[in-house]
Amino acid sequence: MLSSLRCGLLFASLLFAVAVQAQQAPTSPTHHLMPVPTTANWGAARLPLRSTFTYIITADTQPDTVVAAAARRLQGRLLRRLGPARPAAKTTPSKAAPTLSIRYGKPGRMDNGDEERYALRVTPMGISLTAPTSLGVLRGLATVEQLVAKEKNALYFPEVDIQDQPRFGWRGLLIDAARHFMPVPVIKRNLDAMAAVKLNVLHWHLSDDQGFRVESQRLPRLAQVGGEGQFYTQAQVREVQRYAAARGIRVVPEFDMPGHATAWLAAYPELASNDSTYGVAPRWGVLNIAMDPTRETTYTLIDTLLGEMTQLFSDPYFHIGGDENDGRQWLRNPRIVQFIKEQKLVKSNGQPDKHALQTYFNRRILAMLTKYNKKMIGWDEILRPGLPESAVIQSWRGKKGLYDAVKANHPAILSNGYYIDLNYSAANHYAVDPLPADAPLTDAQKKLVLGGEATMWAEFADSVIVDSRIWPRTAAIAERFWSPATVTNVPDMYRRLAIVSAQLERLGVQHRSAPELLLRQLAAGQPVAPLRTFASVLEPVKEYKRHFQGMKYTTQTLLNRLVDAAPAESDAAREFGEAVDALLAQLGTAPTSPLPAEALPALAAVRAPLIQWQANDVKLQPLFNTSASLREYGPLSARLSALSTLALERLQLLEQGQTPTAAWKTNAQQQLEAAKAPAGQTELAVLPALQRLLNGLP
Ligand code: ACM
Repeated sequence: MLSSLRCGLLFASLLFAVAVQAQQAPTSPTHHLMPVPTTANWGAARLPLRSTFTYIITADTQPDTVVAAAARRLQGRLLRRLGPARPAAKTTPSKAAPTLSIRYGKPGRMDNGDEERYALRVTPMGISLTAPTSLGVLRGLATVEQLVAKEKNALYFPEVDIQDQPRFGWRGLLIDAARHFMPVPVIKRNLDAMAAVKLNVLHWHLSDDQGFRVESQRLPRLAQVGGEGQFYTQAQVREVQRYAAARGIRVVPEFDMPGHATAWLAAYPELASNDSTYGVAPRWGVLNIAMDPTRETTYTLIDTLLGEMTQLFSDPYFHIGGDENDGRQWLRNPRIVQFIKEQKLVKSNGQPDKHALQTYFNRRILAMLTKYNKKMIGWDEILRPGLPESAVIQSWRGKKGLYDAVKANHPAILSNGYYIDLNYSAANHYAVDPLPADAPLTDAQKKLVLGGEATMWAEFADSVIVDSRIWPRTAAIAERFWSPATVTNVPDMYRRLAIVSAQLERLGVQHRSAPELLLRQLAAGQPVAPLRTFASVLEPVKEYKRHFQGMKYTTQTLLNRLVDAAPAESDAAREFGEAVDALLAQLGTAPTSPLPAEALPALAAVRAPLIQWQANDVKLQPLFNTSASLREYGPLSARLSALSTLALERLQLLEQGQTPTAAWKTNAQQQLEAAKAPAGQTELAVLPALQRLLNGLP
């Protein structure tokens, strides 16, 4: 877990960890930190967190205002953790030495590629944070906040010596504000969360078939018509960029083209590749509606927009999308086919090449962006012969896109494996490495891998529940982007993820409170606890199966059903699975009576939730009977109860040293199979563990 340069020190720190286990809260050499730092050597001493916490800042050259602001925010949050103000301390802060001493070289700028490394030392005398740039200070302050531990109601910083720097310079989160509009407060609180886990790029997906979300003064219909009134004003865009910059986060805008652009066509029909007129799309999916890349008027309009947007957005990178356009509208238009032939955009067999036409389009856009001093990024579909090397490729369809891109000398970013909208587990994303040891790349090619991005596509996330679809899982991805590749311990990741989740809640992220509010609305005045218990073992169906579960979603569909309150990853299911595996590990292959004594705690840990789930269905019946919205989930609740009953019976047989009859086993298998059917676009997240339990006991 720790990649310490000095084995002796690592050994010493492990000894410390063992020695202090009995007395202090964090018992792992990773403590509460996420992402894990490059090296950390822990001591046994402590620095108490007191209401006299102060800081001093020294800049070797000119000061950067973001440092003072970040230190003040940190101080405020630390003092809030101490609870209500106490009587004034005896030592006045002016006389006492500052608790935290910050020193840095120069102002750092993310868009300059400045360093983010820092060194941090905590002793009983105080904290020293040094960094070459202000960016390093911001990262170090995030670590200081996470260091705080608690014992017997006393907060303290553990003694430690940290040297830390990111593994990748590009550590992003995409927020899709096009499918569901995400008002500025949503973006800001997610920026706070990103800063807490050292993410540094907000990829702001600002236009798609379902909406164009930025005010354009030159082309006002884009937001007014294409955004249907829900868009960011230019003042708000500037405000978000300031807020992000103050946290060391860059903002990369994406305007998706030539596909995923129906909202543009609704505003400016002359962009279309046929004679149809379009409204802003109310439905989801790959619509294969594209701009006409053959008309000069298309480029005039895009140039007008880019001229304005490249001024509005200060980051040197600018994302043009470029994904999921199959070119069918182009090939159906004789005028466009004629253009393709005139431009010799044909395959070796002479047939029109729609990909070559898109590359023609991409090159025209790249020329504009170059004129405006921007570097172009696009999804991996834009990687075709003829694309200039300066274009950055964001790979979403597979690792191959990433490797192909860097082999062709393009800088590249990995998003495949980090699609958090698919509702996979944190462990699943955590296992994906942008540059695994076996990557078939040269050192020069490896250097072109800039990093990665988690993607929060928002077909099934509105501004209310989006936090719960991003966090806490994205903190595990942030660790993959920042920490050494050797940091791969999954149980320890989950231990820290729970701590970070609580930290994010203190920061104002609503990943826990919004689903809870939804549950209370659904309970409509009846006790919410049984519904909470039930929701906690559900997950939305994975991938994009929600589209195919008998319900037609549009942009108008409210996301306020039980599926929207269900966690993307069920903690209860994971914990139950761990308990089941611990129990199975304690047992032999043949039944014994009595059970080995060491298996009894594991048995109790498995039994307790089963008893709760068994009894829960009856408690939910009044809700299922009165709520039309909840009724569709009734069958799943009944199945959970029945399976819990079976599992409890099975545990009883186990204790009696008996095995079930063949008929019992057949019935159990049938019930397990039946419980696989989703209801209300959710599935029982505890099912795999129940299956392991019922099939795995001796
Ligand atoms: C994408 O998911 N279409 C980039």
